[in-house]
Amino acid sequence: MVSLDINGKMHKVDVGPDVPLLWVIREHLRLTGTKFSCGIGMCGSCTVHVNGKAERSCQIPVGDAQGKKITTIEGLPEDHPVKMAWIKEQVPQCGYCQSGQIMQAAALLAEDANPSEDKIITTMNGNLCRCGTYPYIKRAIYAAAREAGKK
Ligand code: FES
Ligand code: FES
Repeated sequence: MVSLDINGKMHKVDVGPDVPLLWVIREHLRLTGTKFSCGIGMCGSCTVHVNGKAERSCQIPVGDAQGKKITTIEGLPEDHPVKMAWIKEQVPQCGYCQSGQIMQAAALLAEDANPSEDKIITTMNGNLCRCGTYPYIKRAIYAAAREAGKK
């Protein structure tokens, strides 16, 4: 049995400590916004926040997530500047990678409110998109940074 703080709520889940966090989020808690793709830490579609940092949930044994604050795409407020910018800039195509992209971008802007182009490219580099939405993602990150700067 593990205890998890996900999106501000405590959950007890009857699984072993080695099960990937991604599996628990999707299959046990039915928070299916976080996506499974490569399963080997190479694509970023499973990105969540762990204590505010972007992490690949397919690579985290759920036992290691205990005592930490986990946020999934469902826990990011609907009026979060990154979510709003994604809509405004019409970033998604098929959408499959986008929750991971948004979580990665939100963690970037939490750490650096005004990132350089190099920082954006380096940070977002590990989040793959088969639909090639990279220019839209970059534009949306700039838009989110501008919007957040106004508040
Ligand atoms: S599914 Fe986790 S990095 Fe690809
Ligand atoms: S929007 Fe289709 S994989 Fe990224």
